[in-house]
Amino acid sequence: MAIVEVGPESDIQPGQSACVFVNDIPIAIFNVNGEYYAIGDTCTHEDFSLSEGEVFEDATVECALHGSRFDLRTGEALSLPATGSAGSYEVWVEDGVIKLDVP
Ligand code: FES
Repeated sequence: MAIVEVGPESDIQPGQSACVFVNDIPIAIFNVNGEYYAIGDTCTHEDFSLSEGEVFEDATVECALHGSRFDLRTGEALSLPATGSAGSYEVWVEDGVIKLDVP
């Protein structure tokens, strides 16, 4: 596993998201009311970026292409047409810096 510094926490404000690449893996980071979540950025239905989706206060994101919802805590698809998990990563803020744990 590797701990990666993503950037200052001000880079992702509440309600915002961003995609970062770690070892060529796209990871979507979300800030929901000050709580950070990180899941795989690629939708499990087709190759589309989940960080471009709409984020909801119940810690879910809706894929902007066909509307599947994903749980930001686990990466699991909650509704069709996507199935399975996009994967999830541990993310936290330390000294004002967003950090990711990537296996
Ligand atoms: S690409 Fe995400 S639901 Fe189809």
